[in-house]
Amino acid sequence: MEKKNIDWSNLGFGYQVTDKRFVSNYKNGAWDEGVLTEDATITMTECAGVLQYAQTCFEGLKAYTTEDGRTVCFRPDLNASRMKDSCERLQMPVFPEDKFVEAVKEVVRANEAYVPPFGSGATLYIRPYMFGSSAVIGVKPADEYQFRIFCTPVGPYFKGGAKPITIRVCDYDRAAPHGTGHIKAGLNYAMSLYQIVDAHEQGFDENMYLDAATRTYVEETGGANFIFITKDGTLVTPKSDSILPSITRRSLMVVAEKYLGMKVEHRPVRFDEIKDFAECGLCGTAAVISPVGKINDHGNEICFPSGMDEMGPVTKKLYDTLTGIQMGRIEAPEGWIVEI
Ligand code: PLP
Ligand code: COI
Repeated sequence: MEKKNIDWSNLGFGYQVTDKRFVSNYKNGAWDEGVLTEDATITMTECAGVLQYAQTCFEGLKAYTTEDGRTVCFRPDLNASRMKDSCERLQMPVFPEDKFVEAVKEVVRANEAYVPPFGSGATLYIRPYMFGSSAVIGVKPADEYQFRIFCTPVGPYFKGGAKPITIRVCDYDRAAPHGTGHIKAGLNYAMSLYQIVDAHEQGFDENMYLDAATRTYVEETGGANFIFITKDGTLVTPKSDSILPSITRRSLMVVAEKYLGMKVEHRPVRFDEIKDFAECGLCGTAAVISPVGKINDHGNEICFPSGMDEMGPVTKKLYDTLTGIQMGRIEAPEGWIVEI
């Protein structure tokens, strides 16, 4: 397969249109077969559920070229199942999980020329999403929906790639207790835009959100879960009902325990204990593992011993093992790698 003429190594995390995307419509209580289309635009009523009441959710996963030239993606079944949870919470019809995985494969296959080559530092980001497409004016779920998947080649989410970033404790909340923080609803991201623009204007890369009820526990950032490494090498990740259950984080817990022999703790993490950790990072599909060097709490700086120059040693081991599995250099647990 001849690849597109793209400067893979200098890609940022941005959108560029690719050749084909998958579209399926839900009408009269059923999904149609779905097709690949070249049309990257959407036309719908001005009164669509998504436009009026933000009835939409999405997923994110990646396809990789392995060292021996195969195209693979990572745990798409977990994206399918998380999207089911999102749909149920938002009163949207579920797109069948097996068809979700098949459609992901179809889209990657149809855009194989955009899957970045092994070693380029880039990957193919895949974005499944669904929205209410029929008219609603009273507050209620739409009757019709569209499920789509597009893909776009991307580089690192944070400029500088593996360079440690600086984040700040945010005074706004991301998710309420018993709200929608645990699902991938578009609305969670809309309400984080004010905070992320403000963080960037103040010179920070991201926001650290605390639990909305007590502001004493660490939740997550706008687009990634936290990982912490204790001074004796334990992986600690925050547990809360209002955090998105990151597939990367769940995978790293297995990698830490089964591949690296580390102790793993998934538990509520108090903000006042993070000053004692040796390393900190953000993990997610887009973020992969992005090391955090410094956290600014209203002018008070928490500087991790791993510093601002490079990833801490344990984070690096986790990063190398996870990406080794994703790129086929290290044998994956059963079912994690799906060949396209
Ligand atoms: N937390 C939030 C709020 C996210 O948007 C994401 C991205 O999907 C994650 C965490 C990481 O999840 P995953 O590892 O499944 O990509
Ligand atoms: C992902 O990591 O896939 C996400 O959806 C996070 C988003 C901030 C890009």
